[in-house]
Amino acid sequence: MNYLITGAGRGIGLELTLFALENGHSVITLVREPNNARSLAQAKKEYGDKLSVFKCDIADPESLAQAHSQAHELLGDFTLDVLINNAGVLLDDEERFDQLPLEKVINSLHVNAVGPVSVTQAFLPNLNKSASAKLVNITSQMGSIADNASGGYYGYRMSKAALNMFAKSFAVDHPKIITLLIHPGWVRTDMGGAQAPLLPRESARGVFKVISEATKNETGRFFDYKGKELPW
Ligand SMILES: NC(=O)c1ccc[n+]([C@@H]2O[C@H](COP(=O)([O-])OP(=O)(O)OC[C@H]3O[C@@H](n4cnc5c(N)ncnc54)[C@H](OP(=O)(O)O)[C@@H]3O)[C@@H](O)[C@H]2O)c1
Repeated sequence: MNYLITGAGRGIGLELTLFALENGHSVITLVREPNNARSLAQAKKEYGDKLSVFKCDIADPESLAQAHSQAHELLGDFTLDVLINNAGVLLDDEERFDQLPLEKVINSLHVNAVGPVSVTQAFLPNLNKSASAKLVNITSQMGSIADNASGGYYGYRMSKAALNMFAKSFAVDHPKIITLLIHPGWVRTDMGGAQAPLLPRESARGVFKVISEATKNETGRFFDYKGKELPW
């Protein structure tokens, strides 16, 4: 199968990419700075044409358009079976509300919510070519309104709640595409921090199981990496 994964240079995106390659899939990656993505460069040596790396800032329409056209130049009118919107930022973890810079809220919304919408828009024709297309959005439990008992994280929580709503509407409008929202767990990455209990590999394994077992029954729903359904 053909995968496209955003934010694949490090963290969960890198692990999802390696997991897909190890399982025999082809992966197109969108990476903000390929020169910094040393693990991907290493994987490229091992997997050759099965892995393509395109420079792309998902929050910059010009950069996305360029990556889109480079991918089509290299791979032709390719079929995409699974698109994983993984790239994300956590910008306002330490902020008190009265000191919260609004740019952080705007940038969170831009990368975490608008970014996945624009990547999905760009590659929808490729997804539509697959008989079993899946759109996977790596969201967060912190985007759950029902689960929010601790407050804070305004931009991050708002952006993931917005991402959830995007995916729900997309699922309703595109019944042939299985659309999922997956919380990857609290994962030991640059974003999750050193205290996080879950290794990226364990998270990626769980996320992959949820993706591969998902049927039309699961479309438009919100799960964690263990397949447990989460409240909106
Ligand atoms: N870690 C956790 O505990 C946790 C929990 C819940 C949800 N999540 C979600 O899981 C996803 C991956 O998180 P992570 O823990 O792997 O984070 P991470 O280690 O901070 O990595 C984030 C990735 O997103 C990329 N990215 C950020 N902004 C981008 C942009 N504008 N364009 C393209 N790529 C961009 C980064 O690229 P650069 O290297 O260029 O910065 C990096 O590859 C995120 O959506 C996050 O919200 C994580």
